[in-house]
Amino acid sequence: MSRSRVLSGIQPTGTGKHLGNYLGAVRHWAAMQDEFECFFFVADLHALTTTPDPAEQRDRTRRTTAELLAMGVDPSRSALFCQSHVPEHAELAWVLGCLTGFGEASRMTQFKEKGGGNVGLFTYPVLQAADILMYRPQSVPVGEDQRQHLELTRDLAQRFNGRYGETFVVPEPYVQRAAARIKDLQEPAAKMSTSRGGPGTLWVVDEPKVITKKIKSAVTDTGREVRAGDDKPGITNLLTILSVVSGRPVAELEVAYEGKGYGEFKADVAEAVVALFEPVRRRYLEVMQDPAALDGILKQGAERAREVAASTMTTVRERVGLLPAT
Ligand code: TYM
Repeated sequence: MSRSRVLSGIQPTGTGKHLGNYLGAVRHWAAMQDEFECFFFVADLHALTTTPDPAEQRDRTRRTTAELLAMGVDPSRSALFCQSHVPEHAELAWVLGCLTGFGEASRMTQFKEKGGGNVGLFTYPVLQAADILMYRPQSVPVGEDQRQHLELTRDLAQRFNGRYGETFVVPEPYVQRAAARIKDLQEPAAKMSTSRGGPGTLWVVDEPKVITKKIKSAVTDTGREVRAGDDKPGITNLLTILSVVSGRPVAELEVAYEGKGYGEFKADVAEAVVALFEPVRRRYLEVMQDPAALDGILKQGAERAREVAASTMTTVRERVGLLPAT
């Protein structure tokens, strides 16, 4: 029997991937590889919505690929590819765009938060729906911020199936509550994000002393107790991080740090994150030594992805009434 499918993607970014990307998403990708048939990709077409410099765009795509490998994505078990190497994504996005209401697309919060922009940014969630539906995955491991895009994806799958016959699997978001929204260390009301950057963001490839410094200078809350609560967003975020990294429940950590100060607690959080990311950083530097090998991995991943994408698109073209080319 064939294994259930999993798919997810990540944008290539200049500064790299952060702790939120790892804890909210990529950690799960790495863990799912044995049980599921996995497709993971670098969303380079999505990144064009920010119109980066071309050399920069190429560099980011390679670096993001290297980071995924360093974080445990294994190309011998999963198809790891670059979105633009599978042109079917853009083609399916067009077809799905023709089923998406203007008002429906206008309601996507990401577009609204960015205060508008280009048409690419407006149709961004439709391309994301195409990325997903193409592979008929059962499950899509993402952080909380992607939930709305997953809802649109599900709506579009149902709409297409209703109109043209059963074609797509309606995918389930796989959002692990504990680490679904890691917060910025300096502004714990906001999510940790690439665009915010700065001293509140922990990059996966930060040097140990940088990680330690950022965690030790994380904003804390009034009071002295290490406990989670709405009145303590800074400490709650650090507790979440330590809990996920160490595998110990928050309640257990609260007991363990009873009577101890913020200083000792932060030192332990820093130690745990350094231990987690030090091997990742080393592996990243190693992988970046050999760009030809990286390109080879992406090529092999795209070949596998295209087998599936070509077959999906043959069905889609036929279902919507496009004439075959031959
Ligand atoms: P991106 O590149 O912004 O983020 C990659 C993954 O990291 C998760 N994430 C977080 N999780 C917890 N806490 C945080 N602070 C945090 N910040 C980011 C995101 O939820 C995501 O899972 N639109 C997508 C890329 C994409 C995609 C797809 C994803 C394109 N096509 C198809 C899944 C399926 C994005 O920009 O993710």
